[in-house]
Amino acid sequence: MERALYDPRHGYYARGDSPLGRSGDFYTSVSVGPLFGQLLARRFLRWHAENGIRGRWRLLEIGAHDGALAADILAAAATLDPAAYDTLGYTIAEPLATLRTRQRETLGAHAEHIRWVADANELAGDTLPGIAFGNELLDALPFHVVVRRSGRWHEEGVAPDPVDPGTLAWRDLGPVSGGPLAAALSRIDATHLPDGYRTEVRTGYAALHRAIARVINPGMAVWIDYGFARPEYYDPARREGTLRTFSGHRAGADPLAAPGLADITAHVDFTAVAEDAAEAGFAFAAFQNQGAWLTREARGWLAEMESTPDPAAIRRFRTLTHPAHLGARFHVFELARPGPATATPADFHRCGLT
Ligand SMILES: C[S@@+](CC[C@H](N)C(=O)[O-])C[C@H]1O[C@@H](n2cnc3c(N)ncnc32)[C@H](O)[C@@H]1O
Repeated sequence: MERALYDPRHGYYARGDSPLGRSGDFYTSVSVGPLFGQLLARRFLRWHAENGIRGRWRLLEIGAHDGALAADILAAAATLDPAAYDTLGYTIAEPLATLRTRQRETLGAHAEHIRWVADANELAGDTLPGIAFGNELLDALPFHVVVRRSGRWHEEGVAPDPVDPGTLAWRDLGPVSGGPLAAALSRIDATHLPDGYRTEVRTGYAALHRAIARVINPGMAVWIDYGFARPEYYDPARREGTLRTFSGHRAGADPLAAPGLADITAHVDFTAVAEDAAEAGFAFAAFQNQGAWLTREARGWLAEMESTPDPAAIRRFRTLTHPAHLGARFHVFELARPGPATATPADFHRCGLT
């Protein structure tokens, strides 16, 4: 998955044309228009005001893709709070050269506010107050595919097909023993999982949060994505996991069919994110569906819409928030650093994140 999506030359995300939007493979909330970024900007500026931040602060976007969300957030921040915009350093963590070039083109108007790094570790020694965030980043992080066999977890690897070496095939790598994968699997209650149960597990959440924690303090991590709490993710009935490919707006299930030409994704285990973030020093702060979260941030915007209605903008707001569109499919996970957590364990439980 790492190579199929992120190889600097042949990876799906390294290619020249964008896979997002009508002519691409899938839409995200960013494709709906600038309103999504405007509402994120309102949330970030509210955090900035509520925490009395003075002087330099940072927004660290991971998975900025073509820079469209960054452009929407920066334009909104410049209008909504010019003083906060003046002291803002917008950092994009982007390892792929082709995407950096595209982001530079999109973000020309804000050039003096932007810095690029390959990943958050490059900022070591320059800790600032701020917020790290990503829209549909976590679901794009590589994962392991594992299968239950005779009461044990086996990892599935990918190798040339022995019968047809020009193509790829799954290969059983044997029972998982030791290492980060075994540690991640030990958190799953496998008692009722049937033989042949196939699913996905990510081990990358921990390193991501550790790197962010080193360079953002005080601050937040805000992740917007689709996923489940662990008991729902690893439900015995979900026998084939959540792995999907996307190509031409069609979902598929075989990531070996066209490596580098289709997106590969799997849902997020939000419980694992919460645990790994907590180990890195983040406290659980909020977990809501996108519709509720955006509607709270949109209060000021909705009041403006009452005096000067813009039917197209209101339609876009509905697309982002209505449960039948994107409002219930996506969740927003806010983690605060340092604590105290603003949410209680009861809130955590209500969200199904037990
Ligand atoms: C599903 S796309 C979402 C793009 C964009 N955030 C949006 O919402 O339209 C996932 C993005 O995450 C990026 N990505 C994945 N892993 C990354 C990493 N470790 N660092 C930076 N970007 C990453 C990919 O290159 C891709 O641009």
